[in-house]
Amino acid sequence: MITLGIESTAHTFGIGIIKDKNVLANVKDSFTTESGGMIPSELTRHHEEINEKVIDDALKVAKIKITDIDLISYSNAPGFGGCLSVGQDVALKFSKKLNIPMVGVHHSVAHLEIGRMLFPKCKDPVLMYASGANTQIIAYEGKKYRVFGETLDQGIGNMIDSFARYIGLGFPGGPKIEELALKSKNYIELPYNVKGMDVNFGGILTNIKRKFDSKEYKVEDICFSLQETIFAMLVEVTERAMAHCDKDELLLGGGVACNKRLQEMCQIMCDERGAKCFVPPNTVLVDNGVMIAWLGRIMHDAGYKTDYDKLDYYPYQRTDDIDVFWR
Ligand code: ATP
Ligand code: FE2
Repeated sequence: MITLGIESTAHTFGIGIIKDKNVLANVKDSFTTESGGMIPSELTRHHEEINEKVIDDALKVAKIKITDIDLISYSNAPGFGGCLSVGQDVALKFSKKLNIPMVGVHHSVAHLEIGRMLFPKCKDPVLMYASGANTQIIAYEGKKYRVFGETLDQGIGNMIDSFARYIGLGFPGGPKIEELALKSKNYIELPYNVKGMDVNFGGILTNIKRKFDSKEYKVEDICFSLQETIFAMLVEVTERAMAHCDKDELLLGGGVACNKRLQEMCQIMCDERGAKCFVPPNTVLVDNGVMIAWLGRIMHDAGYKTDYDKLDYYPYQRTDDIDVFWR
């Protein structure tokens, strides 16, 4: 059975094609800027302009025809309304044209399920989901993926991107900040904001902007200290969630998890507590259509499909709103 997954929650329009557990294609086109940030209407326009090309490219990579597709899956939550609606329109168009079922899936849940698919030994992990808009520590308890800790203000990636934009690096800023951080080992004390199981980043952002403006600090030192501080905060709450839930597997997800220093800190924490750390390849950490295809597939196998008359998308739907009936 061949599934085509459509990811369109934010800056990325991605198409994943899978044949059962084999990935046939993972193609995407992401909105980027040299300066400034993401403007929702520009993202929507990007997805409208690019979707046909990304689908054509994915079919070529997979070496199949559109008529070979048996199931369409798309991300229907959470994200920007305009972006989600493009994904849904494309899914509906092909579902009707090919007369095949469509399944709307929750993006954050897809980050977790793709890890379980990629790593058969990763059975019941705690997910550290660190992306632009989302920062959540998620684990399965009682038929739901529960959020054990999360950001109380912005996502960790958006915070990094805001600082990068402030110092003129453009979007996305994460990889550029990582490069600068590698040039320093000089830690400057920054606020450390962990509240129980939750974190927040706004105060740290204000603090480093001031430090940057004062010209008293090297930008490499600020970037290094930023990473050390906010990644330590994430690792602390993740470890607490693992202890609380008595789980000994950690799975990483989200674009910020591409960061090698964050991966290293997670590995050290897992080694110290005798746990396993699973890190998907970057192409699956960032927003991608493969994870959407896979979650659609397992929901479909459990008997689910999205009815045309109940079609909708949910910009603010939470991870723990979803009934995990397939597990
Ligand atoms: P979501 O919809 O899940 O919130 P997203 O739209 O933010 O995801 P992702 O592709 O998961 O998209 O993540 C993008 C974020 O990852 C950006 O904020 C980017 O700066 C950050 N990022 C990418 N690579 C790195 C890196 N090496 N270090 C730190 N941050 C990174
Ligand atoms: Fe994501």
